[in-house]
Amino acid sequence: MDIIDLPIGIFDSGVGGLTVFSAVAKKLPRENLLYLGDTARVPYGSRSPETVLKYAQRVAGHLVNRGVKALIVACNTATTYALEYLQEAAQKENIPVLGVIAPGAQKAVAGSTNKKIGILGTDGTIKGKRYEQEIHKINPHVTVIGQPCPLFVPLIEEGWHKDPITMQVAKRYLTNIEEPDTIILGCTHYPLIKPILEKVLPAVQFIDSATATAEQSYKVLQEKNLLRQHGKGKYRFLVTDNMERFHRVGYYFLGYSPTPIQLIDLEEQDANRLNR
Ligand code: DGL
Repeated sequence: MDIIDLPIGIFDSGVGGLTVFSAVAKKLPRENLLYLGDTARVPYGSRSPETVLKYAQRVAGHLVNRGVKALIVACNTATTYALEYLQEAAQKENIPVLGVIAPGAQKAVAGSTNKKIGILGTDGTIKGKRYEQEIHKINPHVTVIGQPCPLFVPLIEEGWHKDPITMQVAKRYLTNIEEPDTIILGCTHYPLIKPILEKVLPAVQFIDSATATAEQSYKVLQEKNLLRQHGKGKYRFLVTDNMERFHRVGYYFLGYSPTPIQLIDLEEQDANRLNR
């Protein structure tokens, strides 16, 4: 197969990365997309950096073994702990690897007037401080306020993204971070509750890194002459556990049920392909 027709591999710990998948499908409608949700090991957000790196290496290695022309780490926690490693390791394969943090950070700095930016994310993402690093690379004078919101993921996966309970939880989390004029949705699930967050803090602009990541992916593929010029992209989904749940919960994220889905096993050896 011509390299240009190879899919873009997109992965996450589970369903959350479908927000990124959806933005990429919109921005790059000709591209074939291969999504992998590591549903057997979700959540990544509460695990140690070493474990997240190990899982991400295995998932990314599996996708590279199947054949992809680019990789998108559609998970903030995995981007925090594994992006640099994967970028370096994939160099020998000549495969560009993109994460979700830098594009969101750039968009937030550009959009903030008072130079106070909030980050909402999993425990792992907030502790890892990657957003802070990316923001400070652009402007070291920005104040960054991180807020872990571990209850949001289960509420969203329960389908309660419009529920008063989620509103209450959002109020509780957001009382600590009132001053920023810009808040980054630093978890791939959170775009689903953007309307609730906007009600809680109406004066704040909420940044969703999915669209920024899709734009960045377009640029990188264009630079490398890897954009497909004809046809309509085909989509496939891989999961490591519970296809039925992915099919059902995926609907909240895409507005349609992801299909076709295939159940796969990840082997320890999958990681070897992306050893540094
Ligand atoms: N997709 C993950 C993220 O963006 C959240 C879910 C998890 O904890 O695995 O960080």
